[in-house]
This record gives sequence, structure tokens and C-alpha cells, in this order.
Amino acid sequence: MENNENNVVPMPRIGDKAPVFKAVTTQGEINFPDDYKDSWVILFSHPADFTPVCTSEFMTFASMEQKFNDVNCKLVGLSVDGLYSHIAWLRTIKEKIEYKGMRDVEVKFPLIEDITMEVARKYGMIQPGESNTKAVRAVFFIDPRGIIRAIIYYPLSLGRNFDELYRALIAMQAADKFSIATPADWRPGDEVIIPTAGSCGVAKERMESKEEMNCYDWFFCTKKISKEDVESGLNIKG
Ligand code: BEZ
Repeated sequence: MENNENNVVPMPRIGDKAPVFKAVTTQGEINFPDDYKDSWVILFSHPADFTPVCTSEFMTFASMEQKFNDVNCKLVGLSVDGLYSHIAWLRTIKEKIEYKGMRDVEVKFPLIEDITMEVARKYGMIQPGESNTKAVRAVFFIDPRGIIRAIIYYPLSLGRNFDELYRALIAMQAADKFSIATPADWRPGDEVIIPTAGSCGVAKERMESKEEMNCYDWFFCTKKISKEDVESGLNIKG
């Protein structure tokens, strides 16, 4: 990505191609996003190793990794700490930390070392109002074409809700698969939104339709897709 006149790297946005980088990680070198062709990726940053909120997050995310992998999504973490700090922290988590029934947790997904902050800056993870020296808790959802589909930022003090990250991933995959949108708080099995009518004729048809469609008004029509159909369409194991 080119710097602008003021040498400030623009923050990537939804719909942009994921910025390219090479990095050293706890699982070897990666070329991003090329090494992740054909799968979804959640690229997320955390402020620092050996800190409590981050430790609770890593244990939770690592415990759910298989669930994300099962829907073709890989996890990649990043902080501006070095590789040996990452290794020591992940070893401590596995060997010593028991938290909320989780123990012996092995973090198998790559954790990027980014002492130079090169990757963190490319992705807008350093937000000086919050910290000049630590990445905020950023979450980038990148699709199999390498396009950024959603971005969520949290401040340093706020641990993420990983069930929500999973829900968001599934909702985006369902939107692609079934050409629909998903309403507030949607979960598989809830009604989905049919794209809004783009002409007066379609609006009229929708309101008069006897098909299995529920129109609250001409611009707001839903239909049912069963939980089983969503799960089989997205290859979610029951
Ligand atoms: C934490 O993960 O506990 C944390 C990290 C940086 C600042 C505040 C909290």
C-alpha cells in the first residue's frame, strides 16, 4: 500500500484488498494473504503478550479454533512483541494457566511478531489516541478472494466476544451462499432478509405474493431458511 503525502498509511476499509505482507510467526514465515487463498481468515491484533485480557482471549480463541476451521476460516494473531516473547507466553498459557475450565490450551494458529509495527501500521492497528506502543484489539475478516469483509475494533481494556465473531463469520458466509442479508441478532434458523425490491413492479409483486415470504412493508421482506439448510449449505457440523 502506498503512503500518502504526509507519510500516513491509510486505514484499510471494508471492500479493500487485504494489504500484503510477509511476516515471521510462531508457526514459521507467512506470506499474507497468498498463503490463505481459498479460505476465510480472521486476522486479529492484541496489545501485548503476558497481559491478562489478552491471555483470556487467546485461551478462548484457541479453544474455539476447530469450530472456525470447520467453516473454512483460519486464525492469525499479531502483536508488536517479538517472537521469543510470543513463544514464552504461549508456553506459559499451555503449561500454567487454568481459566474458566480451560487448561492445557495449545495455541496452534500463527502469532505474528511485529516489533517494527510494519504490519500493525498497514492495518491501522496502532491508534495513537489509545496507545502509541501497543496495537488495539482489531479484528479483520478477510474472504477467500483476499477482500476485507468486516472490521471490528475494541479498546485495550475490552476483551472480545468470540461467539459474536463466529456469528458474524457465519452470517457473511450465509449472505454469500444464499444471496440474502441477515437481520439484527441473526442466528442460523432465524428468518433472513430478501434483497430490497429495486423497482415499483417488484415492490408490488412482493406485497401481493403468496410465496413463502413475509413482508413487513414493500422494502422489508423476509423468508425462512431452516437451521439445517444453513448448516448444510455452509458445511457446519451439527
Ligand atoms: C490486557 O490484555 O490485560 C491489557 C493489555 C494492554 C492494556 C490493558 C490491558
